[in-house]
Parts: sequence; structure tokens; C-alpha cells
Amino acid sequence: MKIAFVGKGGSGKTTLSSLFIRQLAASHVPVVAVDADINQHLGAALGMDESDAAALPSMGAQLPLIKDWLRGSNPRIASSETMIKTTPPGRGSRLLRITEDSPVHEACARTVALEGNEVRLLATGPFTEADLGVACYHSKTGAVELFLNHLVDGRDEFVVVDMTAGSDSFASGMFTRFDMTFLVAEPTRKGVSVYRQYKEYAQDFGIQLCVVGNKVHGQDDLDFLREQAGDDLLVCFGHSDWVRAMEKGRPLPLAELEPANRRALETLREAADGAYDKRDSERYMRQMIHFHLRNAESWGNAKTGVDLAAQVDPGFVPGEQPVPQTA
Ligand SMILES: Nc1ncnc2c1ncn2[C@@H]1O[C@H](COP(=O)(O)OP(=O)(O)O)[C@@H](O)[C@H]1O
Ligand SMILES: [Mg+2]
Repeated sequence: MKIAFVGKGGSGKTTLSSLFIRQLAASHVPVVAVDADINQHLGAALGMDESDAAALPSMGAQLPLIKDWLRGSNPRIASSETMIKTTPPGRGSRLLRITEDSPVHEACARTVALEGNEVRLLATGPFTEADLGVACYHSKTGAVELFLNHLVDGRDEFVVVDMTAGSDSFASGMFTRFDMTFLVAEPTRKGVSVYRQYKEYAQDFGIQLCVVGNKVHGQDDLDFLREQAGDDLLVCFGHSDWVRAMEKGRPLPLAELEPANRRALETLREAADGAYDKRDSERYMRQMIHFHLRNAESWGNAKTGVDLAAQVDPGFVPGEQPVPQTA
């Protein structure tokens, strides 16, 4: 299943994504971790040393390879130049799986040892000023969107994306690509304002969103978040000395995380499992096409010089055999 951690910078997206990923690794579940945050820190939070984290391949730089592989023999996509970040898979496209090897994994993923297991880590690569505009053709997160849209994933295998809650993800539809979105919020007005914005978009598309409080000290913080987020507030993490020790370069095993924070992690897992049960693959595909058509019209057709609406393969759902079309 696909999980996103979003929120304001500094709220703890990377910290909580990395804890969630650790917990999955500790329970022997296959995980692909994706660092799509403006500040690329997920590798370090997963315990990579600085030079290894800096040497992670950038998915943005691998975009031509990613497009070429995913396009496969799909007759609706004439070239990788005409494939944009929202181009949906169709018959002939190559699909990705979490535990399989592919040239995309080979080019972009690195293995991280975690809690006696291994997880795969992919990273968009650092963002530049130019990447932070709206629906930009060269957007780094485009590689992540293509990855997610071509992925066939089941219940007990996870993609966990640490990402920025920015206008880019709303313009492209990236925010609709997840079974569950955990919005990390500190008990501050700024923390909660990101939630409000996200919630507005989320409601219109029926996406499952939960608020995860972080750095919550005591009842007043809790009351504030409850008042602001109501039933959307799933659980809160408190200040963690375990996280602090990690930041000091003294990593501890997950088993030593504070019991209350461990329980909070379990709550996240349960919420994710519950969200998966409500997965609607047809809606997922419908929204993918909706955003593709919107992007095609607003910039894609002009940029590529072709009618990108023709890339849509009606009735195709990744992982399911399309019904053969009769003449
Ligand atoms: N529960 C916590 N306890 C202690 N420190 C935390 C906690 N959550 C986050 N931090 C610290 O706060 C800072 C920002 O967290 P980070 O996960 O990098 O935020 P983001 O990814 O949202 O920008 C980091 O120094 C991190 O170690
Ligand atoms: Mg971060």
C-alpha cells in the first residue's frame, strides 16, 4: 500500500516517516522508502552515513530512463519525450512491484539495513529554486508520480513517501496517490494551517487523511490539536529522547523507543491497514486520468506538441487484465 507523510517543514515528517519505516522493517514487511521532501534527510534519518546519503541517485536525473522503461511497448506513448509525469499506464506499459527488481529500482534505489532487515530507499534529489514552481515539466516529484502510478502493490507491502505539502502535489494530483496520508502537525497555528489546506483538497477527492500530532507536550497541546482537527486527529507523538539520541549520532534499536511513541506507531499501522481495506482501484485510475487530462490541457500538450489525452487507455487498471475491446 502507499503511504504519504506530509506537513509543514520542521513538523517531523522525516522523523515520523523514518520511525514508521523502521517499524515496518522490524515486522518483516517489504518497504520502499521515498524521499520526496524539499530537504532530503530521509536517508540520514534511516541511519545512513552522510556520504552514502549524499551519494543516493536522484530520481529526477533518472527521469529519461524511468520513462523509457515504464513506457515499454505502450502504443499510446510514442516516445519518452511525450511522456509527462501524469501519463497513465496502459496496455503495453511496464508495471513495477515493490519486491521485484527492475531497471528503475536498479538505477534509483539503494538498500538500507534496518532493524535486521533491508529496505529500499529512493530519493528525488535536492530541489532547486526552479523546481518549486507550479506544474513544472522537470519537476523532481514527477519521477515519484510515475513510480506510484505504475506500481502494483498489495496489502502487506509498503511504499512510504516523505513529502512536502506543496502546490506541486495539488496541481499534479500526487496527493491522491496514497491509500493513507498522515499529516504531521505540531500543536501550533502554522502546523494546523497546512492541515486545513490539505483537508480542502482531500475532501474533494475522497482521500483518506489523518492528522498525526508531533512534539506534543501535555494536555494543552493535545486539546489544541483536538479542537483544530477534531476526529481527523489520529494520534500524537511526544518529545522523544530516542529521536534526539539518533540526531546525536547515537542510534538505538526501535525496541528502545519510548513506549507511548511505540504505541503511536502501532496506531499508524492500524490506520494504514484500515485505509487499505477501503482502497478503490477504479477511483484511483479515474483520478489519475483526471489529473493527466488537466495537466495535458494546461501545459502538457503545448510542451510536447501532441494531444496527450490520447495516452489514456480506457478501462485499464494496473494489475488487472483489461477487458478486451471488441471492434
Ligand atoms: N518527536 C520528536 N522528538 C524529538 N525531536 C523531534 C521529534 N520530531 C521531530 N524532531 C526533531 O525536529 C526536527 C525537525 O524534524 P524533521 O523530521 O526533520 O521535520 P520535517 O521533515 O517535517 O522537516 C529534527 O531535528 C527532528 O529530529
Ligand atoms: Mg524532512
